[in-house]
Amino acid sequence: MKLLREELKNLMKKKLMQAGLSEEHAEITSEILTWSSERGYHSHGEVRVEYYAERIAKGGITVNPRFRWEETGPCSGIFEGDNACGYVAATYAMDKAIEMAKKNGVAVVGVRNMSHSGAIGYYTEMAAKQDLVAISFCQSDPMAVPYGGTEPYYGTNPISFAAPTADERLVVFDMATTVQAWGKILDRRANNQDIPSDWAVDEKGLPVTDPHLVNALVPMSGAKGYGLMMMVDVFSGVLIGVPFGKHVSSMYHDLSEGRNLGQIHIVIDPERFVGIEKFKQSMSKVCDELGEMTPVEGHKKVYYPGERAALRREDTYKSGGIEIVDEIYEYLISDQIHFDRYDHKNRFAD
Ligand code: NAI
Repeated sequence: MKLLREELKNLMKKKLMQAGLSEEHAEITSEILTWSSERGYHSHGEVRVEYYAERIAKGGITVNPRFRWEETGPCSGIFEGDNACGYVAATYAMDKAIEMAKKNGVAVVGVRNMSHSGAIGYYTEMAAKQDLVAISFCQSDPMAVPYGGTEPYYGTNPISFAAPTADERLVVFDMATTVQAWGKILDRRANNQDIPSDWAVDEKGLPVTDPHLVNALVPMSGAKGYGLMMMVDVFSGVLIGVPFGKHVSSMYHDLSEGRNLGQIHIVIDPERFVGIEKFKQSMSKVCDELGEMTPVEGHKKVYYPGERAALRREDTYKSGGIEIVDEIYEYLISDQIHFDRYDHKNRFAD
């Protein structure tokens, strides 16, 4: 089933409002979900609506939040999210960071107490569109073993950075710090296919290939990825003053409670360093030089981060719209706010 951008966005917006979200918050959330879907990040697009709708309806996302902006210095601040929809809190916090970086050159803004904020490349891209460079880190619930460990301690803790160029290209890097996202394990379970032995571990912390025996994901690149996922949690959890490490609340356990998640945006105005024009020219040169390199056998070209997502977005519209599975379309057009589909006790359930 293919839907035009506005059709999908409106269906998602309507469903979120049906669950209880205000029109303003539903507008922001559905825009970011569409941003993900049209770039092929379906795992962070329409697939999530039912989960958010259930959480909103059960009270685990504050629909009339009392946001509080606390400027803690000329270049720093905390955005208190009151467990609102994470997309909204993270967007408003990035607005503050952009404003502050334009004024004072640098901004470090923490979001305290919010719900899941989705694909975090959206927020760094907001800054890049305004001629700023940005980094964002965000915690997620414990699903990955620390290097050498047997129990999940950190989440898939994503990292994003973005930068403008002198042309229409935007460099947007955006990744989880685990080898694979949980969704990829679920796909293999559904199709009864083995997983590669470097994706996940069993209850003893040993590599597994049977997707049904997975007890935790593993950090990308061993000890190095483990260090990066810790960095994400230190900056977006410990530093912000929200639960950290294995104390981060589960996505599915109790949908009636706020998740108290943290995120951090770091925004820099290149004008205070090399100068914005020179910065943008250099970034264009970087992208050109990478793109001109002879690719290794089996690769079409060397892409800059974000290029493939931008191409997928182009293809989406050339091919007539965003492809979504029938089951999700049926849900979006239905009267149901949610079906009871999650095993709320088991974080590794289907
Ligand atoms: P991915 O593996 O698809 O891509 C990671 C990065 O590598 C991207 O920036 C992409 O541009 C780059 N890349 C991939 N292949 C490339 C190639 N051939 N050439 C050049 N660059 C290439 O992303 P992943 O790790 O699966 O994450 C997907 C999304 O999940 C992200 O948007 C992330 O923010 C989101 N996420 C959100 C979480 C949350 O709790 N809010 C938790 C974990 C992930």
